[in-house]
Amino acid sequence: MRVLFIPAACMLVFACGPSATTVSMPPKFLPEAAPGVLRAPGDFSVIADKSDRSRALFVEASRVLLGPRCANCHPNDDSPRQGEFSTLHDPPVTRGPEGTGVVAMQCSSCHQGENAKLAHVPGAPGWRLAPKSMAWIGKSPADICEQLKDPARNGGRTLAQLVEHFEHDALVAWGWAPGEGRAASLGSQAQLAALVSAWIEAGAVCPTPVSPEGAK
Ligand code: HEC
Ligand code: HEC
Repeated sequence: MRVLFIPAACMLVFACGPSATTVSMPPKFLPEAAPGVLRAPGDFSVIADKSDRSRALFVEASRVLLGPRCANCHPNDDSPRQGEFSTLHDPPVTRGPEGTGVVAMQCSSCHQGENAKLAHVPGAPGWRLAPKSMAWIGKSPADICEQLKDPARNGGRTLAQLVEHFEHDALVAWGWAPGEGRAASLGSQAQLAALVSAWIEAGAVCPTPVSPEGAK
């Protein structure tokens, strides 16, 4: 007896040849934001409205930015944070004029150009705190979006230069190679940069602030 097997995809296309089963259908729904999984830019193509898509792409990218690996170095005060719950840095240290500490307590007296395995001290070239204008702790995705676009607060960068920073900066890269005992950032550096690029291509629209004073 011959059983006729019709793959599901064949029912949806007019001519169904041997290659029909390899046709990948565009996604119909945005997959849920699962813990530990960063969604890809392509997942957002289901959002037809360009501005809505742009906003959603930024919110997805902000899941990485607000994770402890990034946020611990982007505080809104003078102390770095550490660990998964972004507790105050122990021992107490302060940012100093350049974000590299003060004379008696430079970041580089403990943090090297790479992770120190035995001492459990994280490291990457140029280890220092992000300036306060680039603070993310305590801010909403809408706030972070506005300040990232603002050359007065983002280090004088154009949007293209911003993408380049996401793609190539050594401190950003550390987020996915943080050393033993620390969870890596969500997704990959390339995937984050792709989300940021897609956000810009769709108009670099910022999420709507949650509070009236949100977009400061
Ligand atoms: C006296 C040594 C020392 C100095 C000085 C120091 N750190 Fe640290 N730092 C550490 C140690 C040790 C850890 C690891 C703590 C742990 O995870 O157990 C750490 C962890 C961190 C982390 C946490 C990374 C993460 O995601 O968990 C950040 C961020 C950080 N330091 C930034 C700085 C900055 C910025 C400076 C300078 C302003 C600085 N540190 C100065 C010893 C130091
Ligand atoms: C060791 C500290 C440190 C860590 C960890 C860190 N950053 Fe930063 N970040 C900085 C410093 C310092 C600057 C300012 C450098 C500059 O402007 O060139 C900065 C600036 C930036 C900027 C520039 C524009 C702006 O307005 O903020 C972006 C984007 C950025 N970081 C992304 C990230 C991401 C994403 C992560 C995590 C994957 C991360 N950073 C982790 C220290 C850090």
